[in-house]
Amino acid sequence: MKRILVTGGTGYIGSHTAVELINAGYEVIIIDNLSNSTADSLDGIEAITGVRPAFVHGDVNDMETLEKLFSDFPGIEGIINFAASKAVNESVRKPLLYYRNNLVTLLNLLEMTVKHGVKGFVFSSSCTVYGEPDVNPVTEKSPIKPATSPYGNTKQISEEIITDTIYSGAPFRAILLRYFNPVGAHPSALIGELPNGVPQNLIPYLTQTAIGVRQELSVFGDDYPTPDGSCIRDFINVVDLAKAHVMAISRLIEGRTAEPVEIFNLGTGNGVSVLELINTFESATGVKVPYRIAPRREGDIVKVWADPEHANNVLGWKAEISLADTMLSAWNWQKRLREKGIM
Ligand code: WQD
Repeated sequence: MKRILVTGGTGYIGSHTAVELINAGYEVIIIDNLSNSTADSLDGIEAITGVRPAFVHGDVNDMETLEKLFSDFPGIEGIINFAASKAVNESVRKPLLYYRNNLVTLLNLLEMTVKHGVKGFVFSSSCTVYGEPDVNPVTEKSPIKPATSPYGNTKQISEEIITDTIYSGAPFRAILLRYFNPVGAHPSALIGELPNGVPQNLIPYLTQTAIGVRQELSVFGDDYPTPDGSCIRDFINVVDLAKAHVMAISRLIEGRTAEPVEIFNLGTGNGVSVLELINTFESATGVKVPYRIAPRREGDIVKVWADPEHANNVLGWKAEISLADTMLSAWNWQKRLREKGIM
């Protein structure tokens, strides 16, 4: 069984990817410092797949931890790197934390990749690297704009570090996956998104409002140059996203990549506004979401959505789950959290 290391694997996208890797027959090893997730994810992964992945409670910043992991688990063929801090506005307040955590972890992992002959490296990147695109939909050849946050800058710098390392002759290949807006939860409602504290992202705040944890959702602006005035995003189902990671790591360790570094936008190709999303949630679940129009949020992109053709044609990946089903999955997960007394 081929061994894959998933860093940040108890987190939102990491745990869903672990499920799909196990379903595809891979042996999964997770390392996570549990700074933004809990080990409950391991129970969920096991309940869904019947397999409990090996888990190392550790920090990818620590080289000794990594050295021990690679000696305890020899023969790791691929790495999928989710371990990073990811809150845009927090990165503006704490840039050093973001540069240290997101870049040192990457440097450590790349050194391990070379030292231990890992064949393939999948990097969790983001549509944030495009900034405010001049043209939508966004392709992989769309210009990279100057980052609008330290978080976005760490993604741009990380992509450059990986590319420079490979083009210096390092004997591994990489795939950079640029996510649009990951949303939803596993249809079993056994794993999902569980941000620490007050959610910054739209969907967790929306579902917490729908269940009564929050009083009302603030829609940050309805005076943008869009059809209904609210921002437009490409909301991609997390299970669809997870499946793309399996396709990417398989492509790498089976030596099927055309280039030493390949880049894929992971989105549905559909731009959906914040207000449209609220309507979709309400019609899919039958649950009203109390909201008010609030002032614009500093740094928000007005509209960004993907052209997924490259991923469709080359990676063989396509988003399949509808936005309505995705909203239903997010709501079922929120209800599960309530049943478990978590939220
Ligand atoms: C989406 C839209 C808000 C909350 C960021 C990162 C991206 C990724 C996802 C990590 C915007 C509006 C939000 C709320 C609202 N990061 N909104 N009320 O900013 O598109 O993307 O998070 O994986 O890399 O850039 O996501 O969910 O914060 O916002 O009206 O309470 O929802 O204004 O238009 P964003 P988001």
